[in-house]
Amino acid sequence: MTTLYQEHLAVLIQRYEEAMAHFDLDAIVIASGEKSYYFQDDHTHPFHAYSGVQQWLPFTLGAETYVIVQAGKKPTLVWPVRDDFWHAPNPVPSGDWQQNWEVSLAKKTDKWFADLPAKTAWLGPQPMALAVACDGLKAYVDFAKAVKTPFEIQAMRHASLRGASGHIAAKEAFLAGMSELEIHLAFLQASQQTAAQEPYPGIVGLNEHAAVLHYEHKAIEKMANSRTLLIDAGANEHGYASDITRTFVRYDDDFSALVNDLDAMEQGLCHGAMSGVAFRDLHQDTLVGIATLLRDHKICSLSIEEQLEKRIPQVFFPHGLGHLLGLQVHDVGGHQIDQAGTLSLPDDKAPFLRLTRTLEENMVITIEPGLYFIPMLLEKMQVEVKQHGCDMARIRQFLPYGGIRIEDNVVVKQDLSENLTRDAFTKNY
Ligand code: GLY
Ligand code: MN
Ligand code: MN
Repeated sequence: MTTLYQEHLAVLIQRYEEAMAHFDLDAIVIASGEKSYYFQDDHTHPFHAYSGVQQWLPFTLGAETYVIVQAGKKPTLVWPVRDDFWHAPNPVPSGDWQQNWEVSLAKKTDKWFADLPAKTAWLGPQPMALAVACDGLKAYVDFAKAVKTPFEIQAMRHASLRGASGHIAAKEAFLAGMSELEIHLAFLQASQQTAAQEPYPGIVGLNEHAAVLHYEHKAIEKMANSRTLLIDAGANEHGYASDITRTFVRYDDDFSALVNDLDAMEQGLCHGAMSGVAFRDLHQDTLVGIATLLRDHKICSLSIEEQLEKRIPQVFFPHGLGHLLGLQVHDVGGHQIDQAGTLSLPDDKAPFLRLTRTLEENMVITIEPGLYFIPMLLEKMQVEVKQHGCDMARIRQFLPYGGIRIEDNVVVKQDLSENLTRDAFTKNY
C-alpha cells in the first residue's frame, strides 16, 4: 500500500524532475545547512534545517545533511556520521521511508560529491564550488511549496493538536494568575517541546503587553491584575508548523464583548478563505470588519467609508491578515505569482501583507485579524488625522487590556475550508 509519505515523495520527485528539465540540469543537491556559533563562543545557535531539504523526509533533519535528486533514480540521502564522543550518536532513523531512498553515510572529510554529474545545481545555504549556478531554481520550487500534499496537511494537523493542547494549558495558567514565564512553561510542557523546538518564539503577553505585536519577553514576576492573555505560539511535526493565537480574558466586560465579536469575524474570514479568492480582497474585507467593530463598539463614530478613507482601521489593525504556513512559519513564495519568480508586492494600503496570491486548493494559510490599542499609533493618529472620530476617553479604558489577536490555520478548499486550529481545540476539549 502506498503511504501518504510515499505519495508526497512522488509529488516532490515529479516537481524536481520538471525543474531539472526546465533548467537543463542532471542533478540537484539540497543542503540542510551548517551550525553557526555565537561570536567568540563554543555554543551554537539553535539549528533549523533549510525547509527545501526538510520537505523530503518524515523526521527532523540536523545539520550537514544533503539530498541528491537525479532524474530516473531513487533520491539519495547523505547522512552525516559523527566521529566524536562529545555528542549523542546520530543513527539513521529506521522506517519504511528507507524503501524509497539510497542512504549514504558521510564523514565530514568524505568527498561524497565527487561523482556528481557536471550539471548539478545547489539549493540551500553554503553552495559548494562544484555546483552550477541556477538563479531561477529556488523561485521555481518555492512556488509549488504553497500547495500542500496530504502528507504535509496531516503533519500540520498533528502540529495543531500539540499547539492547541499548549494553549489550553496556557489559559489555565493565566486564569490561575501565573506570570508570563510560567504561562509559557505551561504551554511548552503541554505541547511537549522545548523553547528551542518551537516553530517560532512563543509570544506570551499579559495586559498592555498584548498590544506589542511581537512581544519578546516573558516576565518572571506575576502581574497583580492580569486581565488579558494574548498567546501566539505553535508546535511542529517534523518541521511543519502550527501558528496559533488566542486572546483569553478574565472578566466579562466591554473588552470581552470586543473579543467575542472579533472571534466571530475571524471565523467568517476563515469561511471566506476558498480557492479562487484573492488574499488581498480578504485583507480588505478585514479592514471593513475592523471598521464595523470600531463603530459598533463605540470606539469610532465615523461611517465605515470615512474610516477606510482616513485609514482608521489600520491604526487598530496594523499588520496583514495572514500568510502561507508550512515548514517555515512565514512560508516562502507568498508574494510570488508564478514559477518564474514574478512578485506581486503589497501596496501601501497593506504594506505588511505577506500573502498576495490568489488562494488555491490545499494551500495552508493563517487567518489572524487583530484589534490593538497601541499608544504609539493612537498618538500618531491624533496628530495626523483631522476629525478621526475616535472616542479617546473610551480608548483609554481599553488601553490596560492591550489588544486582541485570533489566529487559525486553514487548509483552503473549493468551498468549506478545513480549519486545523478549531478542529484541534475541539478534539482537546
Ligand atoms: N507568529 C507569527 C505570526 O503570527 O505571523
Ligand atoms: Mn502567530
Ligand atoms: Mn501567523
